[in-house]
Amino acid sequence: MHRRLITPGALAAASLLLAIPASAADYQPGAPGIGDPYYPYYGNGGYDVSHYDLRLKYQPATDELEGTATIRAKATQNLSRFDLDFLLDVSEVRVNGAKAAFAASGQHELEVTPANPLRKGTPLTIVVRYSGVPSSKSAYGFSTWHRTPDGAIAADEPEAAWWWFPSNDHPSDKATYDVSVDVPDGTQAISNGTLQPTSSKHGWTNYTWRQNKPQATYLTTLAIGKFDVTTGKTSNGVPIINAYSKDLGDKDKAARASLERTGEIVDWLTGYLGHYPFNSVGGYVPNTTTGYALETQTRVYYSPRQFANGTNTSVVVHELAHQWYGDSVSLKGWKDIWINEGFARYAQWLWSEHEGKGTTQELADYVYASHAADDAFWTVRPGDPGPDNQFDIAVYDRGALAVQALRNEVGDQAFFAILKGWPKEHAYGNASVADFRAYAEKVSGKPLAALFDTWLFQPSKPAAPAAHSASVAKTSAAVAQPKSWEEIAATNDVHGG
Ligand code: TRP
Ligand code: ZN
Repeated sequence: MHRRLITPGALAAASLLLAIPASAADYQPGAPGIGDPYYPYYGNGGYDVSHYDLRLKYQPATDELEGTATIRAKATQNLSRFDLDFLLDVSEVRVNGAKAAFAASGQHELEVTPANPLRKGTPLTIVVRYSGVPSSKSAYGFSTWHRTPDGAIAADEPEAAWWWFPSNDHPSDKATYDVSVDVPDGTQAISNGTLQPTSSKHGWTNYTWRQNKPQATYLTTLAIGKFDVTTGKTSNGVPIINAYSKDLGDKDKAARASLERTGEIVDWLTGYLGHYPFNSVGGYVPNTTTGYALETQTRVYYSPRQFANGTNTSVVVHELAHQWYGDSVSLKGWKDIWINEGFARYAQWLWSEHEGKGTTQELADYVYASHAADDAFWTVRPGDPGPDNQFDIAVYDRGALAVQALRNEVGDQAFFAILKGWPKEHAYGNASVADFRAYAEKVSGKPLAALFDTWLFQPSKPAAPAAHSASVAKTSAAVAQPKSWEEIAATNDVHGG
């Protein structure tokens, strides 16, 4: 404060300031978005969640969901209020025991104003009581809550949580979960992690699932319906839980013949990616009409359509590879999607080679040769594709081609050390494409800026790499389609809707 500047006007201003409690001016609202340029309103600023405890009751006949969410968090700035991302109808919010004011705003914000401002570093216990019919809610004109004849499913990317629990909806704020769901007797609830003992009372059965490792909101899944559940163990003793809708019709046998190889595939992936990072694994196949699969943590979501043409182990490999690349090591921002999809696709290429259906180099050559230089495919930059191209086929295929280019540049020994070392280096955390480059440079001892720029960031077809020009210079007609191609392409259903 500069004393010399005191004037009557300044004195008035100073006394006005004094009238405000000394610290109030330091307390600001948390931002309505966490700062992801692809999705400015996803996630929120000002706090960090460590745990979600969800107590839910769901009625399949009417799609009514009732819930109490208890969120454990910490203020990361002095907060006058903060947002959660949520669409259902809220009846009460409490922060550290006291009732808080709340209001819906924007497309999916729930603004919470605590009775007292929250100092940076304060531990928070936020309780949200809510109810609603998720299928009646939308944001930006869409809904990702899927009804099925016997229940409903929450599994989508990047948006899935808004329809069933309030959250800080961004992968950069991961947390552990307890998901407890009451459903009518005879119906099951499937979620992530391990199942605690079930109990039944007055016609309702309780299913409680526990995820004890950090998990991104979009990887948190809920499936309610009538399932046949199978259990097993991998060679390393990881419990396997798979669930099949009782209504899969002629896709039932192929779905089981694929998912029941989960243990074998986890064992095989462990050889390339290292120790499996979670305490449970498996997947579920509900009776939806969707086409895609999603790497929901420890409990993969598979659409029945993935098994319409018979078994599909390639999609199982893709989603299980994500448990290391995407789930344990999550992206920092949605622009880093190559860390997820480039590597999950590359795992499918390794599986193709393992099954004698085409080597990774043959698959890379085929991708390279099948897109002419003027193909829009090459305008997509897998290293930062933009929100509209986040799941473009180029993120997968050009993305895996970039992985093969890295392998050819650093050699097999360094490449496989990187592939296995990365999930350990950033286990249960978040990392970016830039972090990956730095790690690959550290392990290989080679500068890789030019390689990453060419294969991931230039909006044009890279020149044929010298070492492989003999094969990649051929036209698509001259490069034979690897035997695994169709099976791998069948996992692309997200693009077909
Ligand atoms: N990440 C999913 C996969 O690779 C694909 C995907 C992209 C997806 N967008 C989605 C799945 C939206 C469900 C909904 O398998
Ligand atoms: Zn994927």
